[in-house]
Amino acid sequence: MLSVKDLDLGCKTVFLRVDFNVPLDENGNIRNDARIRAALPTLEYLLDKGARVVAASHLGRPKGKVNPKLSLKPVAIRLAELIPQDVIFSPDCIGGQVDCLKQGLGCGHVLLLENLRFHAEEKENDFEFARALAWKIDYFVNDAFGTCHRAHTSVVAIAQFVKKAVAGFLVEKEVECMEGLIHAPEKPFTAILGGAKVSDKIPVIRNLIDKADDILIGGAMAYTFFQALGKDTGRSLVEQDKVELALSLLNEAKAKGVNFHLPQDHVIAESMTATAPSEILIDFPFPKDRMALDIGPRTVEAYGEIIQKSRTIFWNGPMGVFEINQFARGTDGVAAAVADSEAMSVVGGGDSVAALYKAGVQDRISHISTGGGASLEYLANETPPGSRPYRRNNMTLTNATPFIAGNWKMYKTVAEADELVAKLLAASADMMEAEVVVIPPFTALSKVNQTLCESPIQLGAQNMYWEDQGAFTGEISPPMLVEAGCQYVVIGHSERRQYFGETNETVNKKIKASLAHGLLPIMCLGESLQERENNETMAKVERQLSEGLAGLTPEQFSRVIIAYEPIWAIGTGLTATPEQAQDVHAFIRENLSENYGNTACSCAIILYGGSVKPANTFSLLKKEDINGALVGGAALESGSFIEIVKESIRAYKEK
Ligand code: 13P
Repeated sequence: MLSVKDLDLGCKTVFLRVDFNVPLDENGNIRNDARIRAALPTLEYLLDKGARVVAASHLGRPKGKVNPKLSLKPVAIRLAELIPQDVIFSPDCIGGQVDCLKQGLGCGHVLLLENLRFHAEEKENDFEFARALAWKIDYFVNDAFGTCHRAHTSVVAIAQFVKKAVAGFLVEKEVECMEGLIHAPEKPFTAILGGAKVSDKIPVIRNLIDKADDILIGGAMAYTFFQALGKDTGRSLVEQDKVELALSLLNEAKAKGVNFHLPQDHVIAESMTATAPSEILIDFPFPKDRMALDIGPRTVEAYGEIIQKSRTIFWNGPMGVFEINQFARGTDGVAAAVADSEAMSVVGGGDSVAALYKAGVQDRISHISTGGGASLEYLANETPPGSRPYRRNNMTLTNATPFIAGNWKMYKTVAEADELVAKLLAASADMMEAEVVVIPPFTALSKVNQTLCESPIQLGAQNMYWEDQGAFTGEISPPMLVEAGCQYVVIGHSERRQYFGETNETVNKKIKASLAHGLLPIMCLGESLQERENNETMAKVERQLSEGLAGLTPEQFSRVIIAYEPIWAIGTGLTATPEQAQDVHAFIRENLSENYGNTACSCAIILYGGSVKPANTFSLLKKEDINGALVGGAALESGSFIEIVKESIRAYKEK
């Protein structure tokens, strides 16, 4: 994962996503500013380095509407008390006024934007909203671990519109901690899970069954497990539709030798109120009119003993109705036991963390996570979307560096694809001065994406359908490609036009759909041998351009890459001469400039494809209008592909 330390910050404008979702009292005062303080190391670092910082957060759930009660203004005031300078507050997060404030922001100063969730688009991972947020922004720094499990615009989509997207210190620290917990927990490893619903915790429990030695269950979710065991739990909260699943989790834990602990005694009452008479019960059945609202003292003791013997502890979720004193003893007891233990302890989730603060033991915990949901998602074996490494920017396309894409066509098993990409990664230092994209078959996308992880090598797909979803057996949609980690998609490859009925019209639909989902299309075009011999090359290319790109705005066009691939040169060993290729490339650029203006077209990326090999790359790429290559056969072997990338860099230097 790239770090904020990897940025050259002097006077650059940084969008800093923080989690300032602080608890407010009924008068709108901040009850606890821990989340603001947690972001200070990154903020202060950025300011010290002279960056212009545009900080942004959500607060509460305004449901896409302006709600003055959820304004970040009080946060701006508190922030200004915590750092040695003024904080400029912007009354919105996008629009003309913000843009002016961004432009007027001095180096080493901070602007805090109004609540991102006043716009419904924030939660929709919306590319237009992302573009507006990213206006005039050089770098994106994500320091909002608490929001990392949400694929929201200011967490995920925005990364596509900046030069570099990196993690802040808080996210780095959280990720490091969670990775340690997952991959190398010192044994015995105890997980304590509480809260109302089993359904919230199913994936975590599943995954912990493979990792933990003891799982301690508290909170109302315990009673869904008791139902599964056939116990009568009175009016306790039970998720009836999860009872079967609870039983299967219990069986799974048993089969794998994990100690799955349920409460041994219970604090029960008639209602969830501070005044309801309560009692402690050991045995089932519960009286018909009573419900369990906390774990009892025996359980606290038994859990405490297990906690004492642990070397690693993860705790998320209260043991009872923690907000009411008479049902808070279980949670308080567990908090004290975790604090007393010598284990590496990680606590996440609002109530568990609040219990630590209430008991004043917060300093005796190894790591208090600022993200309850994000840490759970981590433990459920999912890297939360916002803490996945952000790839190198690909939205501000530029032909200032060569662009080399390897189209692996219908070759490579998953294992072979992974082996090839690992070899490319080993050489990535030699390829830094080029934009490199690999385009494996669909089946290998996810695996290759995982392996590419932090590298600047990017990922593309070979085709897609234009609908988001539906009854289209055998097709793959743009959101599926995004989910698989793709940034690019090849559209209208001549092999698809030749064998699968791809037309300019379908190409056009696919290009629009890819752009709508933030995927960058590599649009292929080119003439057959017969068309070349009949002198029809330019007419064919012109038609493919006008029909394939029909209806695109100049802005949309700025995100399209063109690949000229004469059909007669593909896989035949026949390459267009550099002059032949240059002629068509120049024609394409000129043709486009009529529609999209000179600037857009001088910046456009136009690739050549068709028997590109290490030996001909240099002469092709030296031509003025050839910005890169779409490589087929020679991309299937790491040595030749790396050589092509190096040759393209050499050619660019001499251009
Ligand atoms: P070859 O490099 O094998 O000719 O393939 C070119 C191509 O079709 C890339 O998309």
